[in-house]
Amino acid sequence: MKVTVFSTHKFDRPSLEDANQGRHAMNYLEVRLTEDTVALAKGSGAIALFTMDDASAPVLEALHSFGVKYIALRSAGFNHVDLKKAKALGIKVARVPAYSPYAVAEHTMALILALNRKIHRAHNRVREMNFSLNGLTGFDLHGKTAGVVGSGKIGAILIKILHGFGCDILAYDRYEDPELVQKYGVRFTDCDTVCTHSDIVSLHVPLTPDTRHMIDAGMIGRMKKGAMLINTSRGGLVDTKAVIEGLKTGQIGYFGMDVYEEEDGLFFEDHSDTIVQDDIISRLMTFNNVLITSHQAFLTHTALKNIAETTLYNLDCFETGKVSGNEVLVE
Ligand code: NAI
Repeated sequence: MKVTVFSTHKFDRPSLEDANQGRHAMNYLEVRLTEDTVALAKGSGAIALFTMDDASAPVLEALHSFGVKYIALRSAGFNHVDLKKAKALGIKVARVPAYSPYAVAEHTMALILALNRKIHRAHNRVREMNFSLNGLTGFDLHGKTAGVVGSGKIGAILIKILHGFGCDILAYDRYEDPELVQKYGVRFTDCDTVCTHSDIVSLHVPLTPDTRHMIDAGMIGRMKKGAMLINTSRGGLVDTKAVIEGLKTGQIGYFGMDVYEEEDGLFFEDHSDTIVQDDIISRLMTFNNVLITSHQAFLTHTALKNIAETTLYNLDCFETGKVSGNEVLVE
């Protein structure tokens, strides 16, 4: 089957080639799927998409008119696909439900450690032969309170890591995992208590209408003065403008983010030759207590291998008429 693979990067093409082993005729494209690029899918039975691709209604209609019947998402999230429209057009959608929660939890810990111990600043200084320690003082994580918002696959692993560092852990989730309570001493409570009683708040719930801007100006005002806020889940969980105000007053002491509300068209690309028009991210860059990575928390060899293998498995199942179990169903 011919498969057009949108948004391929140097980092993920080798793992897709390894997993495919020549079974499907893969047409690897670096461009994102948009209304302008959708015509490149002509002649394909299926397409494979990444998180920044746009599978909105007009794009799906065009795909349908070209005879594309299957979308294999190389991600767990599917908020970039109009599922109702896909269903109406008879286009099936499958995803990679879990590829490595360890990758994301470990990157979250990397942000916490780097911000606390000011590794980004120390690294720059030392490269300039500046060996002064002034301004680099951190805090012991041991004995601090960490608040984990969302204790699903990623949040639960982060809890175990934080427990290893000797943190007291508060958590908020719709489902209270008894193992986390018994083995790691987690205290489950409401979202407000978690965010307002913690020295470090880390977000791991999905983005839904309920969770959008859960960290807003009001919540930031109630947080512990100088607390650390980490977001490796989805940018929309945080009102970024309110975070900037919190950073300016010192209410937020540290901010680590791997995801950004306006990341589409910005993250995953090299903009170093252009003038970035986004004043919010530009302002964030001016704070030395802010650490930004561009949606790389998932990026480990293990995760890429798992993403590629599941994507190819989904494509194989579609071609042979089997159910993969990874289909995204419209409620
Ligand atoms: P998961 O589904 O295992 O866990 C999510 C948890 O949030 C569940 O325990 C669920 O009960 C809870 N939850 C959902 N809505 C809630 C609400 N309104 N109130 C309280 N709890 C609620 O998901 P997983 O695998 O842990 O992923 C978490 C998030 O991480 C994903 O939604 C995704 O946005 C993000 N992610 C980020 C990546 C990155 O590279 N930065 C890569 C993969 C995922």
